[in-house]
Amino acid sequence: MPTVQPLALPRNGNTVAAIDLGTSKLFCLIAELNMGRPRILGAAQLQAEGLKHGDITDLNQFSHCLHQVIDEAETSAGESARDIYLAFSGGNLSGQLLEGNVPIEPGPISNSVLTRALDTAETIARTSLRGQPKRELLHVVPAFYAVDGRHGVSDPRGIHADHLSLFANAVTMSRAARRDLDALRKIFQHNRTHILAAPWASALAVLDADEKNLGAIVIDIGAETTSVTEVRANALHTLSVIPTGGATLTRNIARQLGITLRSAEQIKTRHGHAFADIAPDHETVKVTPLGNSDHTPKSMPRAKLLKVLQPSLENILAKVREQLNALAPSPHKHLVFTGGGSLVPGIDILAEHILEHKPRLASPKPLSQLADLYKTPAHAVSVGTLLWATQHEDIVMPEEKRRRRNLWQKLASPPQRWLHNAIGAEF
Ligand SMILES: Nc1ncnc2c1ncn2[C@@H]1O[C@H](COP(=O)(O)OP(=O)(O)OP(=O)(O)O)[C@@H](O)[C@H]1O
Ligand SMILES: [Mg+2]
Repeated sequence: MPTVQPLALPRNGNTVAAIDLGTSKLFCLIAELNMGRPRILGAAQLQAEGLKHGDITDLNQFSHCLHQVIDEAETSAGESARDIYLAFSGGNLSGQLLEGNVPIEPGPISNSVLTRALDTAETIARTSLRGQPKRELLHVVPAFYAVDGRHGVSDPRGIHADHLSLFANAVTMSRAARRDLDALRKIFQHNRTHILAAPWASALAVLDADEKNLGAIVIDIGAETTSVTEVRANALHTLSVIPTGGATLTRNIARQLGITLRSAEQIKTRHGHAFADIAPDHETVKVTPLGNSDHTPKSMPRAKLLKVLQPSLENILAKVREQLNALAPSPHKHLVFTGGGSLVPGIDILAEHILEHKPRLASPKPLSQLADLYKTPAHAVSVGTLLWATQHEDIVMPEEKRRRRNLWQKLASPPQRWLHNAIGAEF
């Protein structure tokens, strides 16, 4: 059983690790947070083990990998991180916006009213879980306030009002996943560990200011998960995760063509396309058949690959469509695709056929010091996690809440950095 060593490098209070717990890769960014701006100091990437469909299936193996990727990233940074932000997409995550009415006394709205507002939101979130014994709360994040019926107020402090409501996004997850994450936090007890919903991080990383304001739905196609995150009026509204992604495509290709998984992954990423009929008859790809002990590659028509890829991709998009149909109707759905699985050429056109809207294909917004290698859709979650760490240090983990009571006071200045416009801040 791997033992977890205390981190050897000197700790720095402003240095954080932002980690995407991706099924195909653990990616860790080490950055210094300075006046709301991250300065990237180092990075490392490792293939994840002990993780399936975003869930921890082998805690020892997984924590060992996690420890290793943090170690490597810290070594490249030359500094260690005290706070670790983990973006998680397992546990059948689900998020929705809840409204809580907050009793207020005459006079201007104070910090303590906001603390009460958050308590109210959390109570409502917990109440909504009654009757669902297998679900747990991951976090409750304030989105905006309604003051005397006026919606979208990001900071109501100082306002005289008769009625105050808080709109907060509550993310829930399976109890089993929650237990695994708690166990993981224990292993990393020398650090302050924060866990956030990966789909939100992805949305933070790829949406521009207008998209956040006017509304967008971010679809992050990963290896074994595909998330659908809805943002409206600068607030995160809903999120859901489907347990499928690029790895499903690879498995289908391997199975149906009788080739190794490695070979299937290779031809998918090098020669894949969303439309089966684009490959001319004479075009071939090299593949390694299953059980081929001498690993001699064989030629196969590319069309055969694409004939498996297109329907498999259509299947994933049909599942995305089911999620989109469950959202509140809106006259125009602005779709944004990201995640490594969105790199299949032609996916936007195929998506337009199936989802009736052509998505924008997005990479994370460039952070100046981010190496080109990491500016790909597959790194949206880690970049978003870092942005989250920069702006939302105050995700409310229910069990940490008491410890963080005085957070509101700490955040009091300057008011425009107030967290409540959870996704509206500029980077
Ligand atoms: N050029 C490409 N064409 C097609 N698919 C690609 C390409 N590049 C990467 N992928 C696929 O992207 C997937 C990995 O994406 P990503 O790194 O976003 O997943 P992850 O975050 O590790 O997984 P998850 O979010 O499901 O936990 C893999 O299935 C990989 O095959
Ligand atoms: Mg991912």
